[in-house]
Amino acid sequence: MKKLFVLAAMAAVSAGALAQSYPGTKPISIVVPFTAGGPTDRVARDLAEAMRKQIPGSNFVVENAAGAGGTIGATKVAKAAPDGHSLLLFHIGMAATPALYRKIAYKPLEDFEFLGMVNDVPMTLIGKPQLPANTYRDFENYIRANAGKLNIAHAGLGSASHICGLLWQSNLQTKDAMTTIPFGGTAPAMTALIGGQVDVMCDQTTNTVGQIEGGRVKAFAVTTAKPLAGHPVLKYYPSLQEMGLKNFDLTIWHGLYAPKGTPPAITKMLNDALKKVLKDPEFIKKNEALGALVVTDKRTDPAEHKKFVAAEMVKIKAAVDAAGKYAD
Ligand code: MLT
Repeated sequence: MKKLFVLAAMAAVSAGALAQSYPGTKPISIVVPFTAGGPTDRVARDLAEAMRKQIPGSNFVVENAAGAGGTIGATKVAKAAPDGHSLLLFHIGMAATPALYRKIAYKPLEDFEFLGMVNDVPMTLIGKPQLPANTYRDFENYIRANAGKLNIAHAGLGSASHICGLLWQSNLQTKDAMTTIPFGGTAPAMTALIGGQVDVMCDQTTNTVGQIEGGRVKAFAVTTAKPLAGHPVLKYYPSLQEMGLKNFDLTIWHGLYAPKGTPPAITKMLNDALKKVLKDPEFIKKNEALGALVVTDKRTDPAEHKKFVAAEMVKIKAAVDAAGKYAD
C-alpha cells in the first residue's frame, strides 16, 4: 500500500513537472488523419498558426498520417505518449469509424482527452468539369440515368466524403450503384476530379470553395438544411433539402483530442488556448471565407464536447447497423 502511495505521488510530481515545463521547445504535433492539402489539413494549419499565438514559445506543427478513413492517424495519437506533444484533429470520423470498423485499435470515449470542438463545415456536391449538367436537377437526372457507369470519390470508409456520398445515394435510391473510388484524403481526390478521372464527389467547403470559384469543378448543391445565402461563392447553390431530399442536413464537425492520461494542467492550457482561438477575428474570418463556422456553443467545453461525440456515435452506429455494411 505504501509503495502504491509513493508511486502515485511520484506520478503526480512528474505530471506536475511536465505541466510546468510545457510546452518547452519540443514541437506540438497536430496529427491530421488525412493527406496534406485537404479540408482537415486546411483547418489544422489555420489552427496551428492561431494556437501558436495563444501559447507563447509554443511550436505547433501539422503532421499527416493518412489512411483507412482516418483510423491510422487516430490510432497513432491514441497510442502516443500523453505528454501534450501529440494532438489529433479529427471530424465526424471520430464517431463514424468505431461503427464501421469493428476491429479498431481505439475507443474514442476511453482513449482520448477531449480538448474542445473547433468548427462546423458544410459540404458540397461537385462534379468533374466535363459532366453534362449545370443545375442540381439536371445532375440528379443524369446520375439516375447513368449511375452504373459513373463513379464517386471519397477519402476512405468512415470519412466525411464517404458518409455524405452514402447518405445522398441512399436518398436517391438509383437502380444501379455508383462505383466508389477511395483516396487517402480529398486533396488527391480533387486532383482526380479536376482531371476528369473521377466523376463526382461530396466534399467539405474548406476544400471546394476555391475550386468552384476558379471554375475547375462544377457544383450542384450544399448539404446544410438551408442554402448558404451569406457566402459569396456558395450562395448560388440550393440545399439538398430544397431539392426534395427531406431532412438532409450534414455539416462536418471538427474536434481536438490528446492521448488519454495527458496531465489535466496541460489539457486545461490547450482548451483555454483553443477557446481564445475561437474568438480570434482572423481565425473566424479564415473559416467563414471557406464556408465554415467556428464553434461558439457549449461544445467548446471538453465535457460537452465528449457528450456531443458520444451522442453522434449512438446515432451513426444505429444507421450503420441498420444498413449492415461494415468496413471489415
Ligand atoms: C480530408 O481532409 O481529406 C477529408 O476530411 C477527408 C474526408 O473525410 O472526406
